[in-house]
Amino acid sequence: MRSPIMSYNRLAVAVVVFIVVSVLIFSATSGLHGGKNVVEKIKESAKGTANNICNNDRPVFGKPSISESFLRLYESIQHPIAASSYTDAYGKLFEVKGGAPWWTEPLRNDVLILDIDTRLPDKKNELWNNGRMNWEAMQAEGSGGMVSASFMNHFLYAQIHGYDYRFFNAHEMEGMYNTWIKPHVLFDLLHSYKFVVAIDADATVQHLELPVEWLFNRWGITPETSIAMPLDTRQVLNGDVHASEDSKGNLALNSGFIIAQALPNTFDLLTAWKECPTEKRYPGCANWKENWSHEQRAFSEYIRYDFNPSGTNIVEIPCNDAMGYPGIVDHAWVKSNCTGQFLRHHTLDKAMTKRSTEVAILQSLTDLVKKELLGKKDMYRIEEKA
Ligand SMILES: *[C@@H]1O[C@H](CO)[C@@H](O)[C@H](O)[C@H]1NC(C)=O
Ligand SMILES: *[C@@H]1O[C@H](CO)[C@@H](O)[C@H](O)[C@H]1NC(C)=O
Repeated sequence: MRSPIMSYNRLAVAVVVFIVVSVLIFSATSGLHGGKNVVEKIKESAKGTANNICNNDRPVFGKPSISESFLRLYESIQHPIAASSYTDAYGKLFEVKGGAPWWTEPLRNDVLILDIDTRLPDKKNELWNNGRMNWEAMQAEGSGGMVSASFMNHFLYAQIHGYDYRFFNAHEMEGMYNTWIKPHVLFDLLHSYKFVVAIDADATVQHLELPVEWLFNRWGITPETSIAMPLDTRQVLNGDVHASEDSKGNLALNSGFIIAQALPNTFDLLTAWKECPTEKRYPGCANWKENWSHEQRAFSEYIRYDFNPSGTNIVEIPCNDAMGYPGIVDHAWVKSNCTGQFLRHHTLDKAMTKRSTEVAILQSLTDLVKKELLGKKDMYRIEEKA
């Protein structure tokens, strides 16, 4: 027998549900501007909720977007963020040193993967052109093909892990070398993210299934780290064996790959870096406005010594991890064999950017194909009976 109390409870629930639904419909209707109907709006909000709360195999309504599909597709080969090691396709083992990993949960769109460039690859057969791109016919030489390939690599990497992506198409700076734009753009965009990861147009992410959070763990990037950049390759230029060092004799950092975390110290640092050439704080810095190596040298010469109070605020990434590429030492004046194990930076052979992009994408597809094929090999392979 049901007690009357129970019925009253049920009635109360029904009333509450009715009110909630009415409010939902009312707010959806009153928010109507662009011709979307109420049902669509509710569907959309339900879809967002379902995808965020439950980790369903499929969204509740409609077809998944391309972004959602990339994320789901690559989930099956994504390397665990908190793993203590990673083995590449050559069988080479890379470890995360130190104690428990700092980063264990996906940061998703708290991370921005950022391309900053004055060049807009929108000519025929380039990435931002409306026409179809012909990969095979795309020029590896010259900047159009290089920029198209690397931007595609960076964008795909962001999609695979649910990071945000932006291409900041910058103007030239009056009286300054182009790359001086970097601290300015980082300063502006870092207000909207926890991390901004800026990658040069001649650099490619080699292991697309490896989350950047895992790399943070490997490189000792903690919640207190403001900036991380790789150490540069050692080069002898015009007989100068100290060409890659700052005036204190320390190896310079290379700004082709910059990880910045939104912290008060980082904004102070970026402000000092941006304003360095005004010489208000750093007499002599104007020398690097147009002289090599520009903002990179300014950072290595002054900034890194002033914004690293605890010694972990600025992280120097090993050269072999994020500088150079296989074959860089074929140039006799390059003295460090940095092979870009995680990020290839093709500073001296820019045309190789297209090939590295191919290798990275094809390797990840190879892993996916093998996972499916061998995962169900009894279904896909028919053994002819003897
Ligand atoms: C660039 O370097 C040259 C040679 O060292 C120097 O003469 C020149 O003044 C520098 N440029 C600026 C803007 O300081
Ligand atoms: C540079 O390093 C790569 C990868 O570790 C290695 O295969 C190559 O032989 C090295 N080259 C030289 C000249 O030491």
